[in-house]
Amino acid sequence: MQAEYFERWNIWRDQKPSGIHQEWVAQRLDNEEVKLSAPNSDILRARLVEYERRNIHGIVLPADSVKATMPNIARVYDYWLGGKDNSAADREMGDRVKAVVPQMPLLARQNRWFLGRAVKFLAGKAGIGRFLDIGSGLPTMNNVHEVAQATRADAEVVYVDNDPVVLAHARALLATDRH
Ligand SMILES: C[S@@+](CC[C@H](N)C(=O)[O-])C[C@H]1O[C@@H](n2cnc3c(N)ncnc32)[C@H](O)[C@@H]1O
Repeated sequence: MQAEYFERWNIWRDQKPSGIHQEWVAQRLDNEEVKLSAPNSDILRARLVEYERRNIHGIVLPADSVKATMPNIARVYDYWLGGKDNSAADREMGDRVKAVVPQMPLLARQNRWFLGRAVKFLAGKAGIGRFLDIGSGLPTMNNVHEVAQATRADAEVVYVDNDPVVLAHARALLATDRH
């Protein structure tokens, strides 16, 4: 069990007085009343994941992906876009890429502008009401649901991204949006 993967939990192995049965226990750091236990680490991990899934504000992140010293490509892209969800390591990586390809920030912005124009066209003239945004990246300005809903209020968007950092940001920022 890699306890550090569940940053909001204190996880330990409970030694019963008999010394034979050892139970895995996880206790929420911000609410000690929330306690999960399991006979082995695999079952505890499954219970933790399930708990976090049900708790919309819960964030499950691999430890490496949130270390400030580790750049993350989604946050580097956010830096090029002029966003605020990036660390010093992301900015350093962004600048190093920019030193080789000076147009990177411009390309990122152009890509974002194209995305906005395309969604506006699809939601408007093309009459599309449902969108599947694969590789959505970090929520930033003019997100797909914002652009689409500005054109048609009933537009619905499903965001997909395989980066847990993106998932964590999206959960926090998009939790209040009905669509
Ligand atoms: C450059 S960002 C694009 C953000 C946004 N779509 C835009 O155009 O501004 C690319 C995103 O695609 C995600 N991605 C890359 N491969 C993926 C995959 N196989 N499945 C889901 N997401 C993926 C990355 O995690 C990243 O957040």
